[in-house]
Amino acid sequence: MTFEKILVTGAGGQIGSELVPLLSSIFGEERVIPSDVKEIKDKRFKYLDVTDKNSVDLLIEKNKVDTIFHLAAILSASGENNPELAYRVNVEGLHNILNSSLKNKVNLVMIPSTIGVFGPETPKENVPIETITRPTTIYGITKVLAEQLGYYYYRRFGLNVRGLRYPGLLSYKSPPGGGTTDYAIEMIIKAVKGENYSCFLRQNSKLPMMYMPDALEAIMKLAEAEDKNLKHRTDFNVSSFSFTPAELESKLREYYPSFTVNYNPDFRQNIADSWPWSLDSSAAKKEWNFSPSFNFDQTVKDMIYNLKGR
Ligand SMILES: NC(=O)c1ccc[n+]([C@@H]2O[C@H](COP(=O)([O-])OP(=O)(O)OC[C@H]3O[C@@H](n4cnc5c(N)ncnc54)[C@H](O)[C@@H]3O)[C@@H](O)[C@H]2O)c1
Repeated sequence: MTFEKILVTGAGGQIGSELVPLLSSIFGEERVIPSDVKEIKDKRFKYLDVTDKNSVDLLIEKNKVDTIFHLAAILSASGENNPELAYRVNVEGLHNILNSSLKNKVNLVMIPSTIGVFGPETPKENVPIETITRPTTIYGITKVLAEQLGYYYYRRFGLNVRGLRYPGLLSYKSPPGGGTTDYAIEMIIKAVKGENYSCFLRQNSKLPMMYMPDALEAIMKLAEAEDKNLKHRTDFNVSSFSFTPAELESKLREYYPSFTVNYNPDFRQNIADSWPWSLDSSAAKKEWNFSPSFNFDQTVKDMIYNLKGR
């Protein structure tokens, strides 16, 4: 059985804080265990450091977990500030989750990946799944390894590991967790507050993006996809649209005519420069019917509407 007892690691992060309520509404509150190293205000919360092998084992075994959404990670910008931690969490943490899943006969392990697996040698437009993946960040390197480790556990041991490469995710409910695309959320929040914004990327840094409702829909569709339809496993490209900071600035000026942005690129510019501009998501469409609902205009409009209401 799958989805009887669902463990979410890194549940307090940008995705987890929206995925936990969604899973709870679909499968029932009592079936979901939100875990993290930072405390979450939720009576079901369990402290779990994924780098602690024994605790991972104990929690999965004791709660008879059959499904895992493994979201615990150190993202691109935070990873460059602490590469050792990024390696421990993103690689050793995943290794612990996979080993414990095998031992405890977990039915499904979802492991989000990222456009961070690509690097400067990757083509820029409409990037296919199978291409050059030589990232320059520790985040990207750990995520290439994570995708491959997931494939290995599937092929070698038959563990049902699935993953998708998210682009930058836009959301208004919880703050982003130290990624390179965080600027977009920060810029929208500043515009809504009536403040100007200092952007850490150049005007013309085009990057692929997606609105959180589509990101949640994507991970749920992949989790529930029929096994026989999957030719890929841990590296599905998914994205909705792409834009530059300048394009977002001018979109926001349609709502806030006096809004302005200063551009002061920092170390994150190098990361953005190494990533593609757009992705080919056709395998996700073909194998599990992925089709995003929100385009750029609708996403910005919806974010502004919800941020204003807060
Ligand atoms: N948000 C995005 O734009 C984006 C884009 C591409 C891929 N992803 C991927 O999606 C997944 C979730 O990302 P997110 O945006 O929610 O990240 P986030 O940084 O917002 O959240 C990650 C969570 O992991 C927790 N964590 C850190 N170390 C831990 C440890 N040792 N044990 C347990 N928990 C730990 C943090 O406390 C945090 O709550 C990651 O695998 C990430 O690579 C996210």
